[in-house]
Amino acid sequence: MSKSEQQDNKPADTDLAARAVEDLTLEEAASELERLAAEIAEHDRRYHGEDAPEISDADYDALKRRNDAIEARFPTLVRSDSPSLRVGTAPADGFGKVTHALPMLSLDNAFSDEDVRDFVGRLRRFLKIDPLAGTIVLTAEPKIDGLSLSLRYEAGRLVSAATRGDGTVGENVTANARTIGDIPTQLPDGVPEIVEVRGEVYMHHDDFRALNARMEAQGTRVFANPRNAAAGSLRQLNAEVTRSRPLRFFAYAWGEMSEVPCDTQYDMVQKLGDWGFSINSRMRRCDSVEAVLDVYHAIEEDRALLGYDIDGMVYKVDRLDLQARLGFVSRAPRWAIAHKFPAEKAFTVLNDIEIQVGRTGALTPVAKLEPVTVGGVVVSNATLHNEDYIKGIGAKGEEIRGGKDIRIGDTVRIQRAGDVIPQIIDVDLDKRPDGSKAYVFPTLCPACGSHAVREEGEAVRRCTGGLICPAQAKEKLKHFVSRLAFDIDGLGDKQVEFFFDLPMEEGGIRQPADIFTLAERDAASPIKKLRNRDGWGETSAANLFAAIEARREVPLNRFIYALGIRHVGEGNAKLLARHYGSWSAFAKAMEAAGETGSEAWAELLDIDGVGETVARAVVEFFAETHNRDAVSALLEKVTPEDMEQADPGDSPVFGKTLVFTGSLEKMSRDEAKARAEAMGAKVSGSVSKKTDLVIAGPGAGSKLKKATDLGIEVISEDDWIEMAGGG
Ligand code: IVH
Repeated sequence: MSKSEQQDNKPADTDLAARAVEDLTLEEAASELERLAAEIAEHDRRYHGEDAPEISDADYDALKRRNDAIEARFPTLVRSDSPSLRVGTAPADGFGKVTHALPMLSLDNAFSDEDVRDFVGRLRRFLKIDPLAGTIVLTAEPKIDGLSLSLRYEAGRLVSAATRGDGTVGENVTANARTIGDIPTQLPDGVPEIVEVRGEVYMHHDDFRALNARMEAQGTRVFANPRNAAAGSLRQLNAEVTRSRPLRFFAYAWGEMSEVPCDTQYDMVQKLGDWGFSINSRMRRCDSVEAVLDVYHAIEEDRALLGYDIDGMVYKVDRLDLQARLGFVSRAPRWAIAHKFPAEKAFTVLNDIEIQVGRTGALTPVAKLEPVTVGGVVVSNATLHNEDYIKGIGAKGEEIRGGKDIRIGDTVRIQRAGDVIPQIIDVDLDKRPDGSKAYVFPTLCPACGSHAVREEGEAVRRCTGGLICPAQAKEKLKHFVSRLAFDIDGLGDKQVEFFFDLPMEEGGIRQPADIFTLAERDAASPIKKLRNRDGWGETSAANLFAAIEARREVPLNRFIYALGIRHVGEGNAKLLARHYGSWSAFAKAMEAAGETGSEAWAELLDIDGVGETVARAVVEFFAETHNRDAVSALLEKVTPEDMEQADPGDSPVFGKTLVFTGSLEKMSRDEAKARAEAMGAKVSGSVSKKTDLVIAGPGAGSKLKKATDLGIEVISEDDWIEMAGGG
């Protein structure tokens, strides 16, 4: 229905719609807010769905402004589905973004009792707690299979709700969260001024089945499992849809708190229960590894009776002061671990093997399976890793699956563990069809026909096509725009394929720099405008150009990660960015590091966490002319932002390079190092001219001598503890 038709049909509303906000009565205001909520939601739906929007951005903004003005005059009338509750909604991708006050972390995994014992061993070593001297109390609780949510309360009122996103920035789903019964919008009196509660949104099995039955009756697509149903229901642009979905929430953690009212994990979670949150009744406090494992095995038995999906248990160090000492390693806390339940398994038939070519040219075989349900999810693809894996040879050259090879037509056993890609773990030789042949791995790239070769000691076969291989180029671009890299909204895998296949003069994209000339080329093109192409319209084209424009400046670590250098993942990109601080310093150092024995090479290797493989890969990347050319072209369009230097505060070791040597008695080496890094220092393993400070314990030998020879300041462990703010 066009806007004018709507007006013709609703003369009364039209009158109201034209009335100045100051002239509205309470009743009129309520009906205006109702109309505006419905109208804005409808525009949102049209805008975000494949349909073209029917009003201009300016008209849309005018509707939102009117809504805000009425709400400002009549605050008691704010509706739960008010468009204003979707604070900062970015029309480009539906939800506004929220930067988490404290990052939302993930968890390391344990897959066996042994892994859990190792975890506790690591805790002891880090904290220097002898098994005889004391126990480390742990909490054990189910790992809910849903999606995590962070709720922020200010002065007791719910002010925002955000999904995890990439851990740093999530999606604003406040309006939706308000519709979930388990989530209080108001906390009792006396809670701290700022409270961030974190937990899991999930769906009960009964509710899931009922919802799917309802959707099936309506002829809509059903959800594959309760987790997808929970995610799909929370991420609705219209909060009223979320309200109609039976979502629940368990609180199990917290983010920013203006005051932490308890000393232990267990008491904190009970406190969240007192404040009105649902907490899991199966949470236990345990004083030994054996006790947590007992809880694990008991819950594993009861798993099917819980009524909701869990995929393991989570163990956390109970004392919050110990948690603080343990801290984090990249994205996961040292003080917690997820103990996963064993993977689900099923038999099916291998219909085909497809070869995919990755961004570094690696040929990866993918199993095309007869679809089969494993643990509630339909699986039709599985990874086959590489040529050797198909032959029955493991990563260390050992025999796997009893040396059985995998052939097309075989009946295979597959396993799926949580969010890990399914794998083929066995072959049923009794069912092998007569006349089947061992699979012959291609030696030519299926995308460009170049030779695909295996380097000495490598299991992976790689296409040698480099620049001429379209598959590599496409995958590189997909990586470049991906979430942890340039994160360009509206430019996903599908769109990369689309632009890659267009001729350059018609808006093609072949390399990263082309992305940033797209709008310009589109404007210059007389006929082939993006907005006129199938599947695109005025708004989606404009949104894409705006999303690209918004990435003319990106943080240095994202820029480095986006280049897709082998072995340089998110973590290594961060290490490099932090160490070098700016693109120019980094690029200069990498070119210099190409010289054998150079100081730049030594410095690169000396970065804690950067090993020889990574260092070599980065240097090789810079040694290639075509890489340097692609980067120069990109740098004409994009500026990597210098790494923000952390605030030195009153840290005496900020920006300094420290070396620990000899044995430390009060703090483990790992803890000392973690503390030093938290205070902005770099920790190095060897003493050189660049060392600023050496902390020497008993038994220090050659490093201490070298430090003394070089005239570097040396202090004792006690001095260090005092410097680090006590032990
Ligand atoms: S604690 C700092 N506890 O698991 C620790 N996480 O694999 C943060 N999850 O992103 C998480 N149940 O979505 C914690 N009882 C529980 C959990 C739980 C489910 C999820 C959560 C997290 C993911 C990590």
